[in-house]
Amino acid sequence: MQTLERTSGFPRQIQNMFGAVAPKYDFLNRLLSAGRDQYWRKAAVDLLSPQMGERFLDVATGTADIALEIASRHPSELKVMGIDFSGPMLKIGQKKVADKQLERTITLQKGCGEFLPFADGSFHGVISAFGLRNFFDSQRALNEMHRVLQDDGKVVILEFSHPPNPLLGWGYLFYFHFLLPQVGKFFSRHKSAYNYLPQSVAKFPMRDDLALLMEQSGFRSVTHQDLTFGIVSLYHGIKNG
Ligand SMILES: C[S@@+](CC[C@H](N)C(=O)[O-])C[C@H]1O[C@@H](n2cnc3c(N)ncnc32)[C@H](O)[C@@H]1O
Repeated sequence: MQTLERTSGFPRQIQNMFGAVAPKYDFLNRLLSAGRDQYWRKAAVDLLSPQMGERFLDVATGTADIALEIASRHPSELKVMGIDFSGPMLKIGQKKVADKQLERTITLQKGCGEFLPFADGSFHGVISAFGLRNFFDSQRALNEMHRVLQDDGKVVILEFSHPPNPLLGWGYLFYFHFLLPQVGKFFSRHKSAYNYLPQSVAKFPMRDDLALLMEQSGFRSVTHQDLTFGIVSLYHGIKNG
C-alpha cells in the first residue's frame, strides 16, 4: 500500500476526500437516503447469504456497515475482513466494531481494491457496497474479487443506478444533482465531495453494462435487480468453478 500510494496514477484526491468526510459519512448517508441505505445494505447481505464457518471480504468497507451487517447474521461463527484505502473511514469503522465487541469476527485492514493482499481462493463471498464506482480501475478490482474467491463463491455488488421511470427519473435527477450536493456540503463542510457523488454515478456503468464488466472478470450467472424504484441496483455473480 505504501508503494502504491507513491505511484503516479494513485487517486490521492479520492482518498483525501473520503478521509475528510469520514466524521460525517454515516450521518449523511442516513440523512440523504432518508434511512434507506441500511435497508439496501441488509438486502445486499441477504443476497450474499452468509453461513456459519464462512469467510467474507468487504471491499471498500468504509465505516464497516456491511461488515457489521454480515457479522450480525452469525456473530462468532464466521469471519469478515474489511479493506479500504482510507485510514479515517477505517478508524470510525474500527470504533463501531469495538462498540459491538466484534473484534474477533471482523478485521479491518488498510488496502487497495485493485491490489487485494490476499491469496487466491481465500473467501466464500466477496461484497462491495458503493465502492466499485470510486475505484481507479474497476475492472481490475472485479478481477481481484474473482481471484480471492473460492470456486463457486459469490460476489455481491451494491451501486447507485438511475430510476428507469421518466417521471421519477426527473425528480431524482433534481434531488441528486441539486439538493443533495447542497445539503452534503452544508453538513460535511467539504466543498466538492457531494458534487463528486452524482458525477461519479453518472459516469459509471449500470445494470446490463456493469453485469457485463462482471462477466468479463469471469463471473457467471450474473444477475441484477433494482431496489427503491431503481435508485440503487444489486448485482450477484458466481465464480466459475
Ligand atoms: C461511498 S464509500 C462506501 C463505504 C461502505 N462500503 C458503505 O457501504 O458505506 C466508498 C469507499 O471506497 C473507498 N475506496 C475508494 N477507492 C478505493 C480503492 N481504490 N481501494 C480501496 N478503497 C477505496 C473509500 O475510501 C470509501 O471508504
